[in-house]
Amino acid sequence: MAEQNVEAVILAAGLGTRMKSDTIKILHRAGGRAIVDYVITLAESITGTAPILVIGHQRDAVRAHCGERARYAVQDEQLGTGHAVLQARSALGDSLEGKTVLILSGDVPLTRRETLDRMIVEHHTHARAATLLSMVLDVPALYGRIVRGSDGELQRIVEAKDASSEELLLSEVNGGIYLFDAPALFDTLSTLSTDNSQGEYYLTDVIARLREKGRSVGAVIADDPVETLGVNSRAELATVESELVRRRVDELMAQGVTFRNPAAISIDSSVSIGADTVVYPFVTLEGETSIGRNCIVEPGVHLRNVIVEDNVTLRTGTVAEDARIASHSAVGPYSHLRPGTVLQQSVKIGNFVETKKAVFARGAKASHLSYIGDAEVGAEANIGAGTITCNYDGVNKHKTTIGEGAFIGSDTQLVAPVTIGKGAYVGAGSTVTKDVPPDSLALSRTPQKTIVGWATKRREEMKKEK
Ligand code: UD1
Ligand code: MG
Repeated sequence: MAEQNVEAVILAAGLGTRMKSDTIKILHRAGGRAIVDYVITLAESITGTAPILVIGHQRDAVRAHCGERARYAVQDEQLGTGHAVLQARSALGDSLEGKTVLILSGDVPLTRRETLDRMIVEHHTHARAATLLSMVLDVPALYGRIVRGSDGELQRIVEAKDASSEELLLSEVNGGIYLFDAPALFDTLSTLSTDNSQGEYYLTDVIARLREKGRSVGAVIADDPVETLGVNSRAELATVESELVRRRVDELMAQGVTFRNPAAISIDSSVSIGADTVVYPFVTLEGETSIGRNCIVEPGVHLRNVIVEDNVTLRTGTVAEDARIASHSAVGPYSHLRPGTVLQQSVKIGNFVETKKAVFARGAKASHLSYIGDAEVGAEANIGAGTITCNYDGVNKHKTTIGEGAFIGSDTQLVAPVTIGKGAYVGAGSTVTKDVPPDSLALSRTPQKTIVGWATKRREEMKKEK
């Protein structure tokens, strides 16, 4: 349920120099999506509308990526988090009365919906002007420290760079996620100064100002500090990636999927898998991939945007992209299904077979060492080892059609465009350049010549030569 009168502002103007990248940090990917995508999705789930993204560095790239999933406010110069929020003022509309502003960071992707719900309940129950998310850390590092009074009430936040040595020892820190009463927030923001070690407008200073005005402020402590982990370096990006994988794997295990080694899987958050499917280690599943029930996914399988139905076996080393595999099919080991491959029910694609834009009808087989591209293969057709569809003439691609129940002998080249009729046979070692009518045999190899005793004679000659 979307919260009434909550608007989300996502701070995303900073570059992230520690990423050592040409790309702004929020567009780096983890779990198959850009970091900022998780934050937009979370914000939208709370407010029911597109959040306001404060952009600065690489604003065109960010706009191009996020499109209409966000509204935008531009911060030309990065003068601090307080200044960044101020840039969102006009996007919030004329009247702020009764509105609550949720502030998130574009580089903090692991916050859970339940945690924000907990903040919202606290915020409203205590009629607060501000509620922030804090966490308790053994190593508080560079986070802003939460200073509480002797009564335990939140007093203010002091940035690590401005903190006294005593304050640096405080272990409760600011996670950078806030709920504010909108009028109170913007009234206070306009009074901030840059009188601090970084010469910036600190959003965190709003807390102490609100306290001074006698307004109620408070903090919710996150159960798991990972929820406020920001991506500032490649190491943090890797932590986010492994947390996203762990979350997805846990969900899938709860839905009945077996992972033989859950720590050795790469899986995007978008991937679904049906119950009783067994996934072996060293599998990578990406994009809009879905795997049905009761499948076996062996080591080294790599799928991107692949739909796999129920009862499919994907053996070791199968690589597939933009493909569909219907039920009871078996693929691999070491098969490569390229874009446009469609395997209908009970198809078998075996060792070292490459397919591209190829539709295999029910029960068709290509078990060994073949290239089948731009092809239509009829039901129950059998393609022998070493068959190649010669689909490319150097300029254009041409189609090969193999009829239902046809039998293609081993080591055959099918020079497209060409059609092998229903039930026809092609003899092993043939180069087929002309259509083969249904139920016929095509054979193009040179007839075999056998010279009896030739080898014996040759060996005798060689002995004499020595
Ligand atoms: C901020 C908090 C700190 C908190 C920490 C949590 C302040 C002053 N400090 O510190 O208390 O512990 O987050 O991670 O707020 N941004 C802009 N424009 C700016 C400056 C920042 O859009 O002018 C954005 C950044 O891109 C980032 C977010 O705001 O997404 C936070 O900024 P960052 O510089 O990381 O703040 P910290 O110093 O980490
Ligand atoms: Mg930060």
